[in-house]
Amino acid sequence: MTHRLGSWTPPDDADTALALRGVHARYPGASADVLDCVSLTIGLGRRTAVLGANGSGKTTLLRVLSGAHRPAAGTVISGGRPLDHGRRGLTAHRQRVQLVTQDPDDQLFSADVRADVGYGPTNLGLPPEEVVARVDEALDVLSLCDLADRPVHRLSFGQRKRVAVAGALAMRSDVLLLDEPTAGLDPVGVAEMLDAVAALERHGTTVVLSTHDVDLAWRWADEVVVVVDGVVSQGSVRDALGDADLLARARLEQPWPLALLGSLGMEPAQYGWPRTHTDVAAVLARDGVTPVAGEAGRT
Ligand SMILES: Nc1ncnc2c1ncn2[C@@H]1O[C@H](COP(=O)(O)OP(=O)(O)O)[C@@H](O)[C@H]1O
Ligand SMILES: [Mg+2]
Repeated sequence: MTHRLGSWTPPDDADTALALRGVHARYPGASADVLDCVSLTIGLGRRTAVLGANGSGKTTLLRVLSGAHRPAAGTVISGGRPLDHGRRGLTAHRQRVQLVTQDPDDQLFSADVRADVGYGPTNLGLPPEEVVARVDEALDVLSLCDLADRPVHRLSFGQRKRVAVAGALAMRSDVLLLDEPTAGLDPVGVAEMLDAVAALERHGTTVVLSTHDVDLAWRWADEVVVVVDGVVSQGSVRDALGDADLLARARLEQPWPLALLGSLGMEPAQYGWPRTHTDVAAVLARDGVTPVAGEAGRT
């Protein structure tokens, strides 16, 4: 099932990057469907965060969108047409849509960074100079130029995650599905990954990412898809993450700016739904909250 939150309406076909219609996904031997008649629409150029607790079905959802997991029933719409899961259909789909798995070591296997990023384009049968151009561009966008000749196994986890994203970018796909791109990264690694995501967007790529980090979703996303017990809710980031009941059912917490305003008895809607530290500081200053003496220089 799918719930539309608030006044959210799906984009027109022309603005649709990908969609699911009545999709059931399950694994052999399991009694319940991981996705139970799910319909959703990913808008072109919209930032969509897929949220849910561990085991809720985020990876399965992204794998269905990527074509890697074939639904037991229902349809994936890609490029305005139902996805054909035959070899030809999937090859065409993968040129539009790339999935970057949560663990980069599932995707990286070449000797060095350059060879890994060029693996997909080479397999497309592109001329070598085109492969080189795409690899150089992807390394540049992901700030990996200095690491181009490094063996992949000598990179940090965060660097390997960015190499996996670069490999997907080099395919020049329209849509990148990033499965928990910030999981396991330290704060600097998270910032680097978010810079990389912003660079992808400037590049015209539609980014969908899964996470259980509500604070990340709150500051990054336009739209949110919440997965709970096979059921999906889709809406604006405000309607989704401002819905305390939905968050509780999804075993997620409120984003910190909403929790803070709530604890002060302040209605987020009246304060412009602050998203960042700077937004919250501005709200508090406007309401006459001043830093406690001696603490002024802290932030
Ligand atoms: N290959 C698999 N075989 C059987 N069950 C699976 C497999 N992958 C995932 N599942 C089950 O499907 C459900 C959703 O998993 P997943 O999509 O990985 O969730 P998430 O990414 O949100 O943690 C879980 O109950 C999980 O145990
Ligand atoms: Mg997962």
